[in-house]
Amino acid sequence: MKILYFTATGNSLYIAKSIGGELYSIPQMVKEDIYEFTNEKIGIVFPLHAWSVPPYIVDFLKKAKFNCEYLFAVVTYGIYSGAVAKHLSDIADEAGFRFSYISRIKMVDNYLPTFDMEKEIAKEPKKKIEQQLEAVKSDITASKEGTLKENFLDKAAMNYMFRRDGKPFSEKRLKVHVVGEGIENYIYVEDSCVQCGVCASVCPVNNIEMDAKNGKISLSDKCFMCFACIHNCPSNAIHIKGEVSNARFRNNHVTLKELIHSNNQM
Ligand SMILES: Cc1cc2nc3c(=O)[nH]c(=O)nc-3n(C[C@H](O)[C@H](O)[C@H](O)COP(=O)(O)O)c2cc1C
Repeated sequence: MKILYFTATGNSLYIAKSIGGELYSIPQMVKEDIYEFTNEKIGIVFPLHAWSVPPYIVDFLKKAKFNCEYLFAVVTYGIYSGAVAKHLSDIADEAGFRFSYISRIKMVDNYLPTFDMEKEIAKEPKKKIEQQLEAVKSDITASKEGTLKENFLDKAAMNYMFRRDGKPFSEKRLKVHVVGEGIENYIYVEDSCVQCGVCASVCPVNNIEMDAKNGKISLSDKCFMCFACIHNCPSNAIHIKGEVSNARFRNNHVTLKELIHSNNQM
């Protein structure tokens, strides 16, 4: 079994590791221009963004070719997953493949603009992550067919997200991607930054550079808002304007080293 994954704060990597098989980081595959995968069983594990599939994963899936008997997706999310299964199925239809199985696992919500990470982490035991994980693992072992049941309201919610220019709501909200620039209006770096470079190393799209002249980090316009840089900054120096708390999150089954290894594009 091969599992392709993307993670910003470790939830999806923890799930990918737990399911088992050979792990392939999507940012690494993109960096190496590898889009064709062959195995009896192939899975993709990634976080939900804005009730839907993050644009980075959409772009990857549209280019990918899967030669397999059984293709599955497991989406990690924090509170509400909208109609992510429908979104994934639509992407697959367009790209010419089909998911045999789509499921989700509710974990700590890492969405900083509206949530206090301390409170989100405190809610983790109620989510019974291990039980969800065991159920998903046994489905995958049994090559179970089927996707999440989503109702009319879930689909309406997804249509609402996409109703304007095809960009998910969270992107519009922070105007990154849509504006293509101006990220400095939403994310700022405090003087406590020690230029350790961790932010640049965990950024999956190589959007962060260290400026040797002024000793500051600069952000470019490729950000798709995964928040890996913010959550993983050892000095807690990167912030979103208006964030509700400065608490940060990393899944405690995953190390910073693993995240750097997964996302580093250098
Ligand atoms: C930009 C962004 C948007 C998100 N939107 C949602 C959402 O709509 N619903 C939800 O339940 N969780 C949402 N989340 C939470 C993540 O899906 C969740 O914390 C995920 O498990 C993080 O996985 P990771 O640690 O592998 O990056 C969002 C997170 C980010 C960064």
